[in-house]
Amino acid sequence: MFERKNITLCGFMGCGKTTIGKQLSQKIFYKFIDTDEYIEQMQKIPVEQIFVNSGESYFRSLEKKAVEELSKLNGYVISTGGGTLKDAQNVEEIKKHSKIIYINTDFDSCYDRIKDCSLRPILNMATAEQLRELYEERKLLYSSVCDYEVFNNGQVSNCISTILASIEKLYFLPKI
Ligand code: S3P
Repeated sequence: MFERKNITLCGFMGCGKTTIGKQLSQKIFYKFIDTDEYIEQMQKIPVEQIFVNSGESYFRSLEKKAVEELSKLNGYVISTGGGTLKDAQNVEEIKKHSKIIYINTDFDSCYDRIKDCSLRPILNMATAEQLRELYEERKLLYSSVCDYEVFNNGQVSNCISTILASIEKLYFLPKI
């Protein structure tokens, strides 16, 4: 079928990366890993506590280390944090061993899913309007670095079917 390279999912907080990633990994017999969960396992504290104790730049350094380690794995669906791909070196590292799929979900749906979640530090630092601006900025980033973009209108199974159909092409055809 296709090489057992990794598949990395990117997208804004609340876009559905984890839900889609877990189901996708089962379908293609890949393992699933989430960069935030990996950092939490390594540090033994939650991401929001890392932000509180040591600040965002320290979190970003841990995220970079996580990317270096995880991107070398084989046969994984990797779900990244919403800000992971802000770092150009992270993108470069991921692209060595992985195709990047952008889960494009509209802002209102993302916001609905995250608005009551106290576990997302970026959310606690911004108003809804600032989050919308961040969303627009990140959208351009995700679109520019991804190999494939899939729209998620809440129908997870449709989204997964679209990704599955794209995977074979992704591994054989260059991006046009
Ligand atoms: C962040 C998104 C979070 C997490 C951290 C920072 C961001 O991940 O990495 O709180 O900068 O957008 P999710 O996208 O999985 O919520």
